[in-house]
Amino acid sequence: MRTLIQFSRGNTSKQAHRDLPDLRDEELTRDGFDGREAVLYRRNDPTTFRTTGRFRATSALLNEVKPSDLTDAQGSAQRLYHNTDATIWLSRRAEPMPFFRRNVDGDECWFVHRGSGRVETEFGPLTFEPGDYVVIPKAITHRWVVESGESSLLGIETVGELRAPTYVGLGRHAPFDPDVIRVPEPAAEESTEAEYEIRVKYDGEYSSLFVDHHPCDVEGWKGDYFPFAFNIRDWNVIMSDSLHLPPSMHVFLVAEGINIINLLPRPFESVSGVERIPWYHRNADYDEIALIHGGNSLGRPLKAGLISHDPQGIHHGFPERARVKARREWDDHTRIEWEIIMIEAKRPLKLDPVLHQPPTG
Ligand SMILES: [Fe+2]
Repeated sequence: MRTLIQFSRGNTSKQAHRDLPDLRDEELTRDGFDGREAVLYRRNDPTTFRTTGRFRATSALLNEVKPSDLTDAQGSAQRLYHNTDATIWLSRRAEPMPFFRRNVDGDECWFVHRGSGRVETEFGPLTFEPGDYVVIPKAITHRWVVESGESSLLGIETVGELRAPTYVGLGRHAPFDPDVIRVPEPAAEESTEAEYEIRVKYDGEYSSLFVDHHPCDVEGWKGDYFPFAFNIRDWNVIMSDSLHLPPSMHVFLVAEGINIINLLPRPFESVSGVERIPWYHRNADYDEIALIHGGNSLGRPLKAGLISHDPQGIHHGFPERARVKARREWDDHTRIEWEIIMIEAKRPLKLDPVLHQPPTG
């Protein structure tokens, strides 16, 4: 809901996130970053606190999580987070799948953090490389063929149908031109084996189908339902020169209760007095997951492979020292070079035990 009703009380800046008084600005927002909101001007860093119980930010390094598919070609991805709308998986497959898969529980969107190869689908093969999203809609038979020796793939499985949001006022070619979507060319395969296994995920359980022909035997396809790939290099970042825009400007795909967002390299805001570093915030209606794919901020490399979870309503954001540095080194940096994949989840996410950290409170 957007409303022109707004009040300001006490010590504030005339424009949000610009020409701050000597205070810390924090956004408290509804509906992601698209609803009602308040900016609070605080004396202290709101992200400095001790906690007990489940309400806490957590993080993990993907290369310290070891799914069974890392060492066993017959193995599977590791579940990391889940709610009733979505499941977030990690696959580190090092060898081609010796079987085919079909997920009839939902759509799958895999972000390729590391690794390359191809996904063989009924529609034809799709190559993949770091920075790709590979989207495999519900019920499509496919097989991952990793060619790089090891991979690191973050999977977002959604119960609802994944689709591009409506970008109001941006035209046909922003934030991405549909021409950059890669779709498979049909490549019907000869049957060389007596039997092929298709592992079907249905209601959270796997069954195996066995067919006497290669599952990829399609000579042609048409329609608006297909697997595809998209690389983040082809994303056109929408920005303002005078205001740090919120993640809701950078949504790639949505499904019921889920937003998938790209935070990618771009020029810094250049108008004097603007806060360049994302403000402290509380995303009151969405849990946030952020995967650092790579890049740097203010000349310092970001920790690639770090995945973090911030429950809805928790204070989080870059540390105060990054804000101070951004103001002090204003003339030294003209761009922010981050590559961050963010997932917003409307319903609270549960963490799998591999991610549990001992309470510090
Ligand atoms: Fe956030």
